[in-house]
Amino acid sequence: MARGVAGFAVLALAPACTAQTITFAHDIAPIVYEHCASCHRPGESGPFPLLTYDDVKKHAAQIATVTKSKFMPPWLPEAGHGDFADENRLTPEQIGKIGEWVAQGTPEGPESEIPPAPKFAEGWSLGTPDLIVEAPKAFTVPPDGTDVYWNFVLSPSITKRRYVRAVEVRPGEKRIVHHANVIIDRSEWGREQEASPGSGFAGMELANRRSVFDPDDGHFLFWRPGGAPYIEPDGLAWTLDPGNDLIVNTHMRPSGKPEQIRPTIGLYFTDKPQSRFPMLLQLEHDSAIKIPPGVRDFPVSDDFKLPMDVDVLSVFAHAHYLATLMEGYATLPDGTRKWLIRIPQWDQSWQSVYRYREPVFLPKGTVISMRYHYDNSAANVRNPNHPPKLVEAGNHATDEMGHLWLQVLPRGTGDHRLELDEALSRHTLEKYPDDYRAHMVLGALLLARTNAQAAVPIVEAAVRINPKEPEARNLLGATLVRVGRVPEAIEQYKAAIALRPDFVNARFNLARALVSSARYPEAIEQYKAILAVYPDDPDVKQGLAQAEEAAKARQR
Ligand code: HEC
Repeated sequence: MARGVAGFAVLALAPACTAQTITFAHDIAPIVYEHCASCHRPGESGPFPLLTYDDVKKHAAQIATVTKSKFMPPWLPEAGHGDFADENRLTPEQIGKIGEWVAQGTPEGPESEIPPAPKFAEGWSLGTPDLIVEAPKAFTVPPDGTDVYWNFVLSPSITKRRYVRAVEVRPGEKRIVHHANVIIDRSEWGREQEASPGSGFAGMELANRRSVFDPDDGHFLFWRPGGAPYIEPDGLAWTLDPGNDLIVNTHMRPSGKPEQIRPTIGLYFTDKPQSRFPMLLQLEHDSAIKIPPGVRDFPVSDDFKLPMDVDVLSVFAHAHYLATLMEGYATLPDGTRKWLIRIPQWDQSWQSVYRYREPVFLPKGTVISMRYHYDNSAANVRNPNHPPKLVEAGNHATDEMGHLWLQVLPRGTGDHRLELDEALSRHTLEKYPDDYRAHMVLGALLLARTNAQAAVPIVEAAVRINPKEPEARNLLGATLVRVGRVPEAIEQYKAAIALRPDFVNARFNLARALVSSARYPEAIEQYKAILAVYPDDPDVKQGLAQAEEAAKARQR
């Protein structure tokens, strides 16, 4: 009993002893320099610098408050639910120290012992880029109002294929630009959205569009304040071809005066081509997002079973304003749960891509789950609708979204994206049986994986869903040719051309199908029609010559 009392007395004294020793020089400067200075310095996003004793002292009370509430440093993922590189989180001891220091009247300690303020690279942090690309025109952010979402279309001028190992984004005034996402656009989709060339276009999200035959790009190119550009390891550089555009999708916040924003990006190339092929895998169930006004906990979920072994490299959880709790986890085949991310208090202002310190291995058969929760009541301070109204999925800030993106690298050598894409398309069709695009992707994949027979009903369904879509008719034609149903294929190609007379690809396919049916005069007519527009195309010239030769041979 007596021993117990003595022990208690020692414990109770301990905090008082350490309390005496808390100074800026020894305790606080190292915390602030490591966890705050990247943003709280001139030119960065923080509203004031935190580089000297005076800076920190001036804001001391506020600093104690925002560190205790975990508003600062901004870091959404919960500890113990994914181990992330660049994690910026204070330990409970550090938070305690700051509070104590402020309570003690912010003593400086010996000035000579204050560590040197951290050094940050001036200009490009990775050194001079191999290519600098600037947005063609500035966008003027209005002085006030709600958040602004703007997309800039940047066109890198390159004359040959390049492999990009890093992208550094200089978004413009960092007090205004909250985050930016770079999307590789290989189909001139961005340009089609612009009212005039170089004008850019509005929109919170990009319909991550890609041509149905294009493999995924598989990289997150994300910028957030205080984040460092990421350098891809050898073999993971991504490909940039002449004519590809880069769309910079920015989230901006008015500052009280009009501001001109014109992002610049620096590209860093390597000679080492891509040899490992990650993919961005998305869980979502946007069509289930129909949140009645006043509902405090509206769940949205999705589950996807992995068809192969993968390593997860990074994660991006995304929603608009109403989300509260966001969870992503994996259930391994043996039933154990592996957390991928857990965000207990979503704040879309601080959204980010999080890269795992070590890749997270998920074996084949693992089920990946997304469990998101939304609060559409007036009690949610972030609710953009006053009073709350029915909220559905959409591209505007007053709509909602729920996406869990994972960057995964299939195990084994070679490129396994088609297999993964096939499983994802089938998963999409389970959720959306009438989804045109998923049918097209799956049909094209099956065709590419030489399973034309299985592709026929899938592409037929695409045509049924969207009979006026020439791409679907063309794909069905190609599929029917592969299973030997040439006369029907010819009808589909003709339908595609009737819908879009300048559809060269369909016309070329038609000409070849006509040749294979020995209908030479009709084939010649089609080849000539293409040459009228593309007089120098070698494939078409060769096709025409062969068709004319065959027609003559038959006359002899
Ligand atoms: C990722 C960049 C970033 C980091 C890291 C960061 N801050 Fe901030 N901080 C900001 C931004 C941006 C704001 C303005 C927030 C706003 O207006 O919503 C801010 C605001 C603040 C404020 C004012 C809060 C208020 O209510 O107005 C304080 C105090 C602060 N930060 C302290 C810190 C401290 C202390 C740290 C380190 C422990 C830190 N910050 C780390 C970007 C950062």
